[in-house]
Amino acid sequence: MSKGQGTALVTGASAGIGAVYADRLAHRGYDLILVARDVAKLNALATRLIGETGVKVEVLRADLSNVDDIRKVEARLHADDITVLVNNAGVAVAGPTVEMDPERLEAMIQLNVVVATRLARAVAPGLAQRRRGDIINIASVVAIRGDQPAISVGYGASKAYLLAFSEGLDSELAPYGVRVQAVLPGVTRTELWEKGGLDINALPQDIVMETGDMVDAAFAGLDQGERVTIPALPDISDWIAFKTARAALLPNISHRLPAERYGRRSTDGSPLPRVPEHHG
Ligand SMILES: NC(=O)c1ccc[n+]([C@@H]2O[C@H](COP(=O)([O-])OP(=O)(O)OC[C@H]3O[C@@H](n4cnc5c(N)ncnc54)[C@H](OP(=O)(O)O)[C@@H]3O)[C@@H](O)[C@H]2O)c1
Repeated sequence: MSKGQGTALVTGASAGIGAVYADRLAHRGYDLILVARDVAKLNALATRLIGETGVKVEVLRADLSNVDDIRKVEARLHADDITVLVNNAGVAVAGPTVEMDPERLEAMIQLNVVVATRLARAVAPGLAQRRRGDIINIASVVAIRGDQPAISVGYGASKAYLLAFSEGLDSELAPYGVRVQAVLPGVTRTELWEKGGLDINALPQDIVMETGDMVDAAFAGLDQGERVTIPALPDISDWIAFKTARAALLPNISHRLPAERYGRRSTDGSPLPRVPEHHG
């Protein structure tokens, strides 16, 4: 029986992190819409969760590389019952950029970036209007690895986009009481690794988190009011220091003249005096 939490739509609910999100949301009393391609797995999960929790569960088969299927999911997200979107479906294509199949690279960006953005765009107006709801975007710690990429540069960049999109969208939607959380898992034991041609068992096992632990930590972070959750990070002040350093740049990243080290000179060749700060 539904407990009045509304309905959560989870993409990539047939396996891994998405399947655990579905489980935890059902146990928190949300009705569910499970989205992925593998209907047999979705149906099996739906049957189990209905039996365990009594919530309503819809299975919505969608291949999110197909625009008609994306539109089908967007249409479902326009309905009034939706209170949560978990943008979880994603793929990791591994390897050096110069060797990567461009079609697979594009498909990864399409799923990890474009689909997540479109679905958030589809759900946000209704959540804002009803002044209630959460958008949970499953990014990755690769989002903050910068010039030390892992898995692949394109994968890291796709997750960096999702982190930036989440942080910005959270600012936009906060006045409406809508929360946007970016979750940045480290290595998590799912099929993603094998599908990407990588052996998770070859990694040091002390960096591998079990999927249930990862999702439970992400919910604990959201419950504590976090908007960016890094499940493995022991000390939150490290993330706050990272954000503070980034914010400290802001007064100085847009001026009328280039910085002196780029050759800013007066006409007689002498360095120009410092200009007052302008933003915008
Ligand atoms: N595992 C990790 O170490 C790790 C770490 C950080 C972040 N993440 C992120 O966590 C998210 C979930 O990954 P996971 O590790 O749980 O991977 P997973 O076990 O491979 O699950 C991926 C899910 O995405 C769905 N999916 C893939 N392509 C799809 C498509 N074209 N249309 C619809 N659904 C599609 C799959 O369902 P179907 O095949 O049935 O369609 C599956 O349910 C991803 O965004 C991933 O980048 C994972």
